[in-house]
Amino acid sequence: MNQLTECVAAIFVSVMLATPATAESRPLAPTPPMGWNSWNHFASKVDDASVRAQADALVATGMRDAGYIYVNIDDSWEGKRDENGFIHSNDKFPDMKALADYIHSKGLKLGIYSSPGPKTCENYEGSYGHEDQDAQTYATWGVDLLKYDLCSFQDIMAQAGSQEKANRLMIEAYSRMRNALRRTGRPIVYSVCQYGYASVWRWGDKIGADLWRTTGDIEDKYSRMAEIGFSQAGLSKYAVPGRWNDPDMLEVGNGGMTAEEYRTHMSLWAILAAPLIAGNDLTRMTPETVALLTNREVIAVDQDSAGVQGDRVGVEGQFEIWAKPLADGSKAVALFNRQDSWMKTAIMELHFDDLGCKGAVSVRDLWLHKDLGTFQDVYKVEVPAHGVVLLRISHR
Ligand code: GLA
Repeated sequence: MNQLTECVAAIFVSVMLATPATAESRPLAPTPPMGWNSWNHFASKVDDASVRAQADALVATGMRDAGYIYVNIDDSWEGKRDENGFIHSNDKFPDMKALADYIHSKGLKLGIYSSPGPKTCENYEGSYGHEDQDAQTYATWGVDLLKYDLCSFQDIMAQAGSQEKANRLMIEAYSRMRNALRRTGRPIVYSVCQYGYASVWRWGDKIGADLWRTTGDIEDKYSRMAEIGFSQAGLSKYAVPGRWNDPDMLEVGNGGMTAEEYRTHMSLWAILAAPLIAGNDLTRMTPETVALLTNREVIAVDQDSAGVQGDRVGVEGQFEIWAKPLADGSKAVALFNRQDSWMKTAIMELHFDDLGCKGAVSVRDLWLHKDLGTFQDVYKVEVPAHGVVLLRISHR
């Protein structure tokens, strides 16, 4: 989007902020939301039984206790509207309130999905013209999070006549649902999904989104994960505690990447303070996948209470260094080797003065759970192709 368009978008946002809305205690997501979402593995085959099984698995595998508490039903739960316009779930979800009660009984929270357009991306019923009714229905069921996905609203935008008008309509539509959610009186986390259009990171906060997708869809392959993850360079200043950039859900455990590549995925998402929403079948995880998803030291980087998103601090060709300041004054530092796998391992150097650190620095490897010792000026380490070394560094 050019500067003029951004400027216009900013004006529209400030106009809409005049809309009165019931106060809510903010932030609803003081650290990046963690949980599971049905889309990446089940797509439109998700149903009540599979969601219950995933909730059970969150508990049984220790994922809930590691912080994964949202159980998010993505597209394809929607049924028809009744004669009064209220939405009902389809046959795959016979009783949404009972499902919510089940999820809550496990100490988990329920997320649901809709679109500001008339239809969702899978051509189910969207919320266009029914925002308040849908928000009320979600609140009655006991929903705790809404992912609101642009989908067919793009057709409405296409009729707008100009990019500025299209963006204004989109921002108004997202604002409308936030206000509808607020009017229910139930705290419902608002997860905006419009693939980053119109630089959403510049206005997502102003319309009351708790998180906003910054990219198109992830896929379970290294090239796409890396394309999305590394494209986040420069966005750190737009995230604050309770307002998160969302580079899409995790693919860890879905089988399309090596363990090394999934470690890169987790490390990068943790440095980015990204929502950690698993997208695999939690009932069939290898111990390796469980370990990848539940590494407490990696999760602690993502969930750090300072809520500062990390960013790229150095790049030389295919070698990148990213750092995230942490609440205790230490830094999480990730060294990424983006070379293709046939190039094999490379030695990377971390120069402490590039991070503003002088003198002796102690270094801990967060995947190995190992203190590596104290180093002066520089730390050198082998990093496998498509891989990462994730460190926590602190002054002695
Ligand atoms: C879009 C979203 C995905 C998923 C699908 C469902 O592509 O970006 O995350 O929600 O729609 O149809």
